[in-house]
Amino acid sequence: MNILGIETSCDETSAAIVQDGTHLLAQVTASQIDLHARFGGVVPEVASRQHVVDITRVVEQVFRDANMTWSNIDAIAVTCGPGLLGSLLVGVSAAKGYALATGKPLVGVHHIAGHVAAAMLTLDGGTGATPPFLCLVVSGGHTELLSVDAKFRFTRLGGTRDDAAGEAYDKVARLLGLAYPGGPKVDDLAHRGRPDAFAFPRALLEDDSFDFSFSGLKSAVNNEIVKRKNRGQAVLVEDVCASFQAAVVEVLVEKTKRAAVHTGARTIVVAGGVAANRGLREAMSQLAKELSISAMFPPIELCTDNAAMIAAAAYPRAKQGRWSPLSLNAYAQLPLVDWQDENWPDVVQIVPNL
Ligand code: KG4
Ligand code: ZN
Repeated sequence: MNILGIETSCDETSAAIVQDGTHLLAQVTASQIDLHARFGGVVPEVASRQHVVDITRVVEQVFRDANMTWSNIDAIAVTCGPGLLGSLLVGVSAAKGYALATGKPLVGVHHIAGHVAAAMLTLDGGTGATPPFLCLVVSGGHTELLSVDAKFRFTRLGGTRDDAAGEAYDKVARLLGLAYPGGPKVDDLAHRGRPDAFAFPRALLEDDSFDFSFSGLKSAVNNEIVKRKNRGQAVLVEDVCASFQAAVVEVLVEKTKRAAVHTGARTIVVAGGVAANRGLREAMSQLAKELSISAMFPPIELCTDNAAMIAAAAYPRAKQGRWSPLSLNAYAQLPLVDWQDENWPDVVQIVPNL
């Protein structure tokens, strides 16, 4: 089964063709990073307008790259939430247009289910993760600890009470004057600094929930920078990055460890944009070794937003012939736990975010 995936929930216009939920045949992504960098973050209306400009050429290019036509496609998968509403509407409308014109069935996909499914994809003949597994999703908008069962259904164990991990990375990068998106830059600089230079807080470690909190950490970094500047002391950017990263990674790894022990998971999957972080990958691999279980990460290029993960997430539903109607809507917020419910997402009662 070949699924065409479409992803436009934030600032990447992406289309991909995935075979049987695991094999990426082709993917084209138009990134808007340069467009938003001058504003220091994603500007929603600018993002929506650029998706409108890029969507058809991205879809046409993915067919050329895969050397395929519509006759090779069995279903169309599209992110319908959560995300920036204007951006989501472009992908959902385009997918509906293609479905109507070609008669192919449609599957609406939860963006976070997509990030999780990225770990099930294989590139160059490697092996991906197979559920059940424990999944830590760490992206710009989400930090969630999920238990994923063999049928690709989710139980939420915990999540952030304020900022997402990626958001904390981007905010700290901004405090340090690094360009958007700052996560990868903080990661690079962290490897050249001292992780024990500053004792930044490890929030909620004493709490026995699986929740996270990163806003206090961001404030602690800000206070340290202001204090040093006021005293006329130099701010060693590498040391700030290394100490900040050590605090984030320690909390993520410790909570994941407790969740793995609690659920008896045999595999830990780390997904989302921050799963590209080298420090986090190393620490999670170490944890898996300690617990004698396995740690899996999506290929780096599939950690940040992409359409392949959306096509992969749609596969379990598509296999059962559970299609979304052409009345499929876009949702700025969307619960994850109901993802495999019979009528998801058409049953969700969400006040449109106008
Ligand atoms: O999953 P994603 O592409 O978008 C959302 O759905 O939010 O994640 C983007 C986030 C950004 O906050 C970015 O700074 C962060 O992932 N990120 C990283 C790294 N690469 C991307 N954070 C830390 N280290 C990295 N290497
Ligand atoms: Zn994402």
